[in-house]
Amino acid sequence: MVDIHCHILPGLDDGAKSLEESVAMVKLASAAGTTDIVATPHANHHYNFDPERIAAKIRELQQATNHLVNLHTGCDFHLSATNIDDALSHPAKYTINHRVYLLVEFSDFVIPPSTDEILGRLRAAGMVPIITHPERNRLLHDRADQIATWVENDCRVQVTAQSFLGRFGKAAKTFSDTLMRNGLIHFVASDGHDPERRPPVLSEARQYIAKNYGEARAEALFVTNPRATLTGETIEPFEPQPRKRKWYELGRNPF
Ligand SMILES: [Fe+2]
Repeated sequence: MVDIHCHILPGLDDGAKSLEESVAMVKLASAAGTTDIVATPHANHHYNFDPERIAAKIRELQQATNHLVNLHTGCDFHLSATNIDDALSHPAKYTINHRVYLLVEFSDFVIPPSTDEILGRLRAAGMVPIITHPERNRLLHDRADQIATWVENDCRVQVTAQSFLGRFGKAAKTFSDTLMRNGLIHFVASDGHDPERRPPVLSEARQYIAKNYGEARAEALFVTNPRATLTGETIEPFEPQPRKRKWYELGRNPF
């Protein structure tokens, strides 16, 4: 599996606190079937984003773990005015492996009306925004239509593995399943921060998706789609699950 969202590098943000903790996270991820992890430190007003420092930390962790998993570079990109300006000036700076996919985290407090326009500007500059964990943002819970519009406009959506297991509460789990039924999720990632409370483990969520939505969809969300972000290949949207016809519609020509 390929995990596109993980705070695995030590001392850069609120993720791993030490190299030892990062090593423990790599071992956990590998044991649970992850082969590739995108290291995604926060870029927000608390944490400065420095690609060279990140590259050095990746090399250090690869050495310390003897390349047990492949580590890639990325960013948990907060949608702030400063970040947006910088990304528009340097479109490859924050993207996964400096290709095209950009993890975008909305504020928990406000989704400004200009969001559509901002996402459009990022697209026009060559980036493909991946909206991260909308199921954990209360402001988006009654906006599935808005998320569908963003997907129509070539954004993609990532949900956190633990949300499907109820570990971010009932509302997050319910909304994750709503988005799944509407074909609006393209990736499941760990958003791992440490070895215990928020571990970088995808196996349980993959089993949940395979059981409830089929093995083919699980393979797409945990392997094929996330792998495509590493090289910047196009990821096609899903069709919504067809609505079950009511008894009185049976036998009619659906067209
Ligand atoms: Fe994150």
